[in-house]
Amino acid sequence: MPRLHVNIDHVATVRQARRERVPDPVAAAVICELAGAQGITVHLREDRRHIQDRDLRLLRETVTTLLNQEMALAEEMVRIALEVRPDEVCVVPEDRQELTTEGGLDAAAALPRLHKEVPKLQQAGIAVSLFVDPDPKALEAAAQCGADFVELHTGRYARARAAERHNELKRLETAARYAHELGLRVNAGHGLDYDNVGEVARLPHVEELNIGFAIVARSVLVGLDQAVREMLDRLLASGAAEA
Ligand code: PXP
Repeated sequence: MPRLHVNIDHVATVRQARRERVPDPVAAAVICELAGAQGITVHLREDRRHIQDRDLRLLRETVTTLLNQEMALAEEMVRIALEVRPDEVCVVPEDRQELTTEGGLDAAAALPRLHKEVPKLQQAGIAVSLFVDPDPKALEAAAQCGADFVELHTGRYARARAAERHNELKRLETAARYAHELGLRVNAGHGLDYDNVGEVARLPHVEELNIGFAIVARSVLVGLDQAVREMLDRLLASGAAEA
């Protein structure tokens, strides 16, 4: 069974909506780990729209499972990773206009930079993963630059209509087998939810699943009942007269 890494970016999205101190991604990471998550993933975006530098540094101090930093292949991000030393980095393409990471990294086009940056990260003890579409050329480029892992982008599969879903799953399966043949370790993620996770978990060679939005979205609903009750308890305890 693949290990579950919880991406807690959207806990920070809620906090940043009001530039408040809560909800704190560090507290969220502790809860995820106590619930059994085997890793914590955060994406420090260049525009800092959700996770902040301080979050990453605190998470490095507090995460006891495995910390995975998603990042663009930008000089600033490589420098931060080398300072913070997450256990793993996942290199993703980044576009400031996008709502979320939309496509996989064009690893073939990025090869010169990857050849330069991947060994630096690995020498610092950081495992390197590349977030790629299930495309043979991207996998070959990942193998060429010496990446440890590829994370297969499951977004197209997750969004596919019923008629195309099987083909998208097959593409993922073929890619997972080919990546393994090339000597790469295999992770997967994006768009996974409570309905589609089973099929992806059964793909061959997949070691880690990175799941964010579905878990944070569900936590709002499953946690809302308790949050309202706690507020009513405070009102009752206030001793205020009935309105
Ligand atoms: N993997 C990568 C590389 C991502 O960029 C993201 C989104 O931040 C995820 C997994 C998680 O995707 P989702 O939030 O849809 O579960």
